[in-house]
Amino acid sequence: MRRKNLVVVALLGIMLGTMIGLVSFSATFYRLFCAATGYGGATQRVASDTAGQSSRVVTVRFTTNVAPGLPWRFEPAQREVQLHLGQDTLAFFTAENLSARDYVGHATFNVTPLKAGIYFKKIQCFCFTEERLGAHQRVEMPVDFFVDPQLAADPTTRDVDTITLSYTFFASERPEGAEDLTRFDHAAPDAEAGGKLFASRCAGCHQLDRALVGPPLAGVVGRRAASVVGYPYSKPLLDSGIVWSTATLDKWLAGPQRLVPGSLMPMSIDDAETRQDIIAYLEAQSGKPAAAPEEHARSE
Ligand code: HEC
Repeated sequence: MRRKNLVVVALLGIMLGTMIGLVSFSATFYRLFCAATGYGGATQRVASDTAGQSSRVVTVRFTTNVAPGLPWRFEPAQREVQLHLGQDTLAFFTAENLSARDYVGHATFNVTPLKAGIYFKKIQCFCFTEERLGAHQRVEMPVDFFVDPQLAADPTTRDVDTITLSYTFFASERPEGAEDLTRFDHAAPDAEAGGKLFASRCAGCHQLDRALVGPPLAGVVGRRAASVVGYPYSKPLLDSGIVWSTATLDKWLAGPQRLVPGSLMPMSIDDAETRQDIIAYLEAQSGKPAAAPEEHARSE
């Protein structure tokens, strides 16, 4: 009896060891594969979105996994986002260390369909570095990315309208130089706070889905400036040629008349963090269509 139990325990031990071995091996293997092929993390890192935007919209879905051996919970804050090709976009993920000691993790990711991988460009991502999370700590982490408009020109990817981004966090094999994930806590704009700020600072003139004093703002991120039909925009805003992105909205809110001389929004927000929170809120609403999403027929 006892010997039989011991054999079972020994067999289970070997199986567990093999599984852990495979998982850590596959993390290493994955990184080698990425380095060799250009799929995945480091090689697709870019300094900024210089590609310009297109009217083509794609859906990006997010999935997350945690490999055995890392006692973290790791989830996307949004299931999917819709964005224009070339549009600089922020997505958020939460990670929580469920254990009573620090852990260092390393995230790998893959993009499906695989052929779209080379057009998926990340500007900022927790997947570039080893990341430490203290005992019972929880953080929200941004990924700043865009999809290269070349996707629509490439005959092999022309038909792609949904891209899935999957992250897996592994226990790190090289915890030495790890960065602390809590650094994102200050950097991450807070869409929930942004919603409250929107209610107090903007809602007197703007609703999401109908015009008040100002135009409706649902879907404003990614939209061409002054493009809601029926709203009486100022001529300078109509002629501005701006496409609203997180960057152009930041400039607009900091000083509308500086960005577009002669435009008519009579307020501005000095505090950068407040602007970022409000923009994060507007971005979270940007999957939803505006009241009148058609664009002005321009007669110039
Ligand atoms: C006192 C009224 C008022 C307030 C408050 C106000 N806005 Fe505006 N907003 C306007 C008006 C008027 C316009 C149209 C400007 C024009 O046509 O030149 C506008 C335009 C805009 C646009 C351009 C929309 C488009 O369709 O191109 C954005 C974006 C915007 N506002 C965001 C905000 C945000 C965010 C806030 C809060 C931080 C805010 N506004 C607060 C009056 C206001």
